[in-house]
Amino acid sequence: MQTHTNTRFTASLVPRVALVTGAATRLGRDIALALAGSGWSVAIHYRNSAEQAQQTLADCMALGAQAHPHARFHSFQADLSDATQCADLAKQVSTHFGSWGALVNSASVFEHDSASSASTDSAALHWHTNTMAPVLLTQALYAHAQQHKACAVAVNMLDQKLWNMNPDFFSYTLSKAALETATTMLAQALAPTMRVVGVAPGLTLTSHMLTDAQFQALHKLSPLGQSSTPQDVAATVLFALSNASITGTTLLVDGGQHLQKFDRDFSLMAST
Ligand SMILES: NC(=O)c1ccc[n+]([C@@H]2O[C@H](COP(=O)([O-])OP(=O)(O)OC[C@H]3O[C@@H](n4cnc5c(N)ncnc54)[C@H](OP(=O)(O)O)[C@@H]3O)[C@@H](O)[C@H]2O)c1
Repeated sequence: MQTHTNTRFTASLVPRVALVTGAATRLGRDIALALAGSGWSVAIHYRNSAEQAQQTLADCMALGAQAHPHARFHSFQADLSDATQCADLAKQVSTHFGSWGALVNSASVFEHDSASSASTDSAALHWHTNTMAPVLLTQALYAHAQQHKACAVAVNMLDQKLWNMNPDFFSYTLSKAALETATTMLAQALAPTMRVVGVAPGLTLTSHMLTDAQFQALHKLSPLGQSSTPQDVAATVLFALSNASITGTTLLVDGGQHLQKFDRDFSLMAST
């Protein structure tokens, strides 16, 4: 452990401003809305989905107005595969909000490759966005917290697949496995100033490779008879952000899918 200004993690020293990456659509949007509804101010990050980001911003503002009179919301554009844009994003959030205390790394690339087709290019594509962007943003939040004598929390979105391996989506899986290891190492290195927690959903939202009917059938494949809902995933992120005793571990929210062996990724099971 390093020597820090803070001698212990103190929840009341976490500014209630959260940056959620990939918050324009899908799970990132649900997480942003859950935070807004709980009184957090939210920095809504997007890359290409500008219009959807404005909708998330408007919906957060409406929810936030009821939850907390001083909550603030703003959207920020950045391509997180570019380290310079990661650094700029963190600076813009600091400048706009003055202080921020939480980071939810939800943005992710999910492109298919396999053990035989994985290449340096496909690995790099996933590595920069899924692994290094969360690490760089965590470093920036840590430096910000140190500077302001505050505490902070980062949540990394992982995948139940890491506890239930199959070789599909080879580069995506490698990038998330590295992020899970980074969650442990960052939690060790940045304590007590920062907590770092993983949240691993099961199949929650469909992919472009599935029909609605296929998704509904696959979503039922779990010990509990249904995988995770977006609301349960968002509630777990909120729990991870608020429970001051959790760090360096991952909360699986997947209906128990990690307990059941699947030989293929869900997106490819329908075609086999
Ligand atoms: N959905 C599920 O069922 C599921 C299951 C297990 C784990 N997870 C994890 O949960 C998280 C959220 O899942 P999701 O399905 O909502 O994610 P997603 O739809 O696959 O991606 C979320 C957003 O990531 C952003 N993104 C991708 N590449 C980027 C880049 N280079 N720079 C900046 N942003 C980039 C995109 O933003 P723009 O649209 O603005 O470009 C995209 O909308 C992910 O980390 C995923 O691995 C999801």
